[in-house]
Amino acid sequence: MGSVGAKEIPVLLNADGRRIDGRRLDELRQLSITAGPLNQADGSAFVEWGANKVMAAVYGPREVHPRHLQENNKAIVQCRYNMAAFSVDERKRPGLDRRSQEISKVIAEAFESVIFVEEFPRTSIDVYIEVLQANAGTRCAGVVAASVALADAGIPMVDLLPSVAVGKIGGAIALDLKKEEDNFGEADLPMAMVPQSGRLVLLQMEGHMNREELSQALELGVSGCRQIHEKMKAALRERYAPSSANPSEAAA
Ligand code: CDP
Repeated sequence: MGSVGAKEIPVLLNADGRRIDGRRLDELRQLSITAGPLNQADGSAFVEWGANKVMAAVYGPREVHPRHLQENNKAIVQCRYNMAAFSVDERKRPGLDRRSQEISKVIAEAFESVIFVEEFPRTSIDVYIEVLQANAGTRCAGVVAASVALADAGIPMVDLLPSVAVGKIGGAIALDLKKEEDNFGEADLPMAMVPQSGRLVLLQMEGHMNREELSQALELGVSGCRQIHEKMKAALRERYAPSSANPSEAAA
């Protein structure tokens, strides 16, 4: 532990290039995705990613409320990202704050660019993301969960939308920051990518990186998104064709 004033700052990267949880710089936290855990929603998914626990539910296409938001030539995508009061160390004040509004907006825009919205004029596709336990990267976990939930709801899309945050810790570029790394690191760069084309549909940055670090971070993020994409597809296969997801089970 190093210290600045009264605050203890953890050593984020040790001499062997390992992180506080033992991961290498290019390693994801453990990720498990369950498609379709909720009965009431049109589509749903639950994601456990490191210490994050995030549920997503999707409704639609359905009638737009309020009506004046209706668009004659396409569906609108509405998203509500919410952190439960019990999801963080210090109880979070319930309700929509500026952060949740910003995250809801960037996620809705990301999905609007991959859903075939022209196929459902005058309707709304509603995405609900509930963070039950937070440990950094919750907007990315939300995108992953919502994307699988949209597929579970049968909403036609260009592709699934894997998402991950890359960052800079102890002077090095690292994949999938956990909370201490997000809090005490030098930069945090959440992204979401269309796997087919490599197009980024969500990209934000907090902190500082130079041009070279940024391109290294993007490259690392792309490789992370490709790994996450495989897990998203596996979760959907597990729900809709469990025998093909696990050939040994089929043989049993
Ligand atoms: O979660 P994400 O990394 O997408 O967003 P962030 O604004 O960078 O927040 C990083 C982390 O800080 C969250 O995942 C939570 O663990 C924590 N946080 C918190 O403890 N209380 C808040 N009101 C907001 C965030």
